[in-house]
Amino acid sequence: MGEDKKHIPTWKEIREAKKADLKTVMEKDPAATSEWSVKHTYAGYKALAAYRVAHRLYLKGHPTLAKLIANDARRRTGVEIHPAAVIGKGIMIDHGSGVVIGETSEVGDGCILYQGVTLGGTGKDTGKRHPTLEHDVMVSAGAKVLGPLTVGAHSKIGAGSVVLKDVPPYSTVVGVPGRVVKQDGKRVADMDQILLPDPIMEEFKRLNRRIAELEKRTGVKIEPALAADGNVVAQAAISEFEKVGEEDNRE
Ligand SMILES: CC(C)(COP(=O)(O)OP(=O)(O)OC[C@H]1O[C@@H](n2cnc3c(N)ncnc32)[C@H](O)[C@@H]1OP(=O)(O)O)[C@@H](O)C(=O)NCCC(=O)NCCS
Repeated sequence: MGEDKKHIPTWKEIREAKKADLKTVMEKDPAATSEWSVKHTYAGYKALAAYRVAHRLYLKGHPTLAKLIANDARRRTGVEIHPAAVIGKGIMIDHGSGVVIGETSEVGDGCILYQGVTLGGTGKDTGKRHPTLEHDVMVSAGAKVLGPLTVGAHSKIGAGSVVLKDVPPYSTVVGVPGRVVKQDGKRVADMDQILLPDPIMEEFKRLNRRIAELEKRTGVKIEPALAADGNVVAQAAISEFEKVGEEDNRE
């Protein structure tokens, strides 16, 4: 995608991209009843149409005019797309309001963005500082994708997530910070998030296994031995255990 960055779209390419955007909305949005209504009432479609013209003007050396068009589109639709961003075709921006697409963002063909999505910078990077979405990525309502990271093709970002790291293709990412919970349709057992290691419990389990093994080998049950009235029985069991333990250590 980066290599095409300087490509100035022709008017024919712009028309084709708009047609592809319309097709995607008709296919993906069950609420879209006619092409006419999409063209005239869909904020996301209108914002993209304005972006496509602004992008061409920006690359042709008219940045101020391009920014005026982008600003007017933002006022009308609530969608702010920097004219320098590189956006593919067949895109759907559903509902629109509150979507922000930063200057160095790249959005691949077939991506879907819902309201409140930010493709932004973290404030720490210079140059390329906004995300790259490969093709057919879905970014759900309110999700924030921040920094010069790449979201792999066909991945889904859950509503309200904050994504700060690269995402492999065919993944589902949810949460703050965003973590991969599914990959290639299978759940990912994320140790950090779900199965927190418990070292104390692990140590107890290890000791229990050791006791059971010693009981088996010595024929002495530690529980009755310790419960018995008087230290003698317990001491005998413990010294028996210690003997076996020492033998084990020598082996
Ligand atoms: C992420 C999403 C796309 C579902 O993707 P998916 O690959 O089908 O994932 P699943 O539904 O199997 O969910 C996987 C896990 O993530 C959790 N999850 C899903 N979405 C989540 C979210 N937004 N935030 C936190 N956790 C979420 C699920 O509960 C599930 O957890 P579990 O495995 O412990 O049960 C979807 O949940 C989502 O966020 N859709 C929002 C779409 C949207 O913006 N609509 C607005 C229309 S106006």
